[in-house]
Order: sequence, then C-alpha cells, then structure tokens
Amino acid sequence: MKIFKPKNLFLILILIFIIIQFVPVEKTNPPVTAPLRASDDVTHIMKSACYDCHSNETVWPWYSHVAPVSWLLSDHVRNGRRHLNFSAWGEYPGKRKLKKLDEIAEEIEGGNMPLAGYVKMHSEANLSAEQKQVLIDWAHAAMDTVSLD
Ligand code: HEC
Repeated sequence: MKIFKPKNLFLILILIFIIIQFVPVEKTNPPVTAPLRASDDVTHIMKSACYDCHSNETVWPWYSHVAPVSWLLSDHVRNGRRHLNFSAWGEYPGKRKLKKLDEIAEEIEGGNMPLAGYVKMHSEANLSAEQKQVLIDWAHAAMDTVSLD
C-alpha cells in the first residue's frame, strides 16, 4: 500500500482544505449600541487602525472567509472586542473607561497595537508618529473627562 505517494498526499491536502471550509466560523457584526464619540480626526485614525478588531463595524476581507485564516481572524476579532469595544464604549462604567484609555495610550506607545500581522495586510493601519501621538494625546485628555459615578 503506497497511498502516501506525493500525488496522493497533495490530493489529501486539497480534500482537507475543502472540508475545513465547512466548519462554521463566527463572523458577525452585532449592533452598535453605544459608540465612542471622539473628534473626526481621532475617529478616522481609529477606524482605519483599530475598529476591525475593537468595534462591531468590522470589515471582513475576502480572505477572512477562507479557512484556516478565517479561524485566526474571527478569533482576533472576538478577543479584541471582548477586551475593548468602541461600539459599546458608552456602556462602560467610568472606572473601566479610565483603565482602557490608559491601556490604549500604553499599547500604542509600546507599538503593540494595532497588531503587526494586521498592519502588514492593511497599510492604512501603519500609523505615522503624528497619528500615534494624536491617539495618545486624545486618550490622556479623555481620561480627565471621565466621570466616576
Ligand atoms: C487585528 C486585530 C486588532 C487590531 C487591528 C487592534 N487590536 Fe487591540 N487587541 C486585539 C486583541 C486580540 C487584543 C487582546 C489581547 C491580546 O490577545 O493581545 C487586543 C488588546 C488591546 C488592548 C488591551 C485591552 C485589555 O483589556 O488588555 C488595547 C488597549 C488595544 N487592544 C488597543 C488597540 C488600539 C488603540 C488599536 C488601534 C490603534 C488596536 N488595539 C488595534 C486585536 C487588535
């Protein structure tokens, strides 16, 4: 029995690829309930660099429909939204807002956000030093306006 000839192996891989396309993947955009309100400038930058993972306004690119990439991306979005969701920002208690704003400045300063893999696929998310500063300054200033009730 030589079923593992290169030609068969190739066919088996193709078959696996086809079969995994049928695994259901969650790629939903739930309703935007309490969106963050910030200046046009800040919103514009965040929409191009953060909203795909941190809002319910995710733009799902074509490759997000192809397994196994789809699994990875849907996981990033689910995880991203769970940690920080600008579409539900208004529902966050003051204390949570403060913490998230602090983390936003920190993650951007540290170069951890947006995720490097995302930036490779989305050149508009490759923020300039000025754009990063706009977001950092906004996060710091917004911390002074949060009311702790
Ligand atoms: C490709 C998806 C993706 C993009 C784009 C992205 N993030 Fe994230 N972000 C995540 C994920 C996933 C996490 C969860 C933590 C982890 O797994 O590293 C996270 C975590 C965070 C956290 C930490 C929250 C916590 O509770 O610890 C902050 C703050 C954050 N992101 C801010 C941003 C900002 C600001 C941008 C845009 C400049 C951005 N992210 C872009 C996926 C993303």
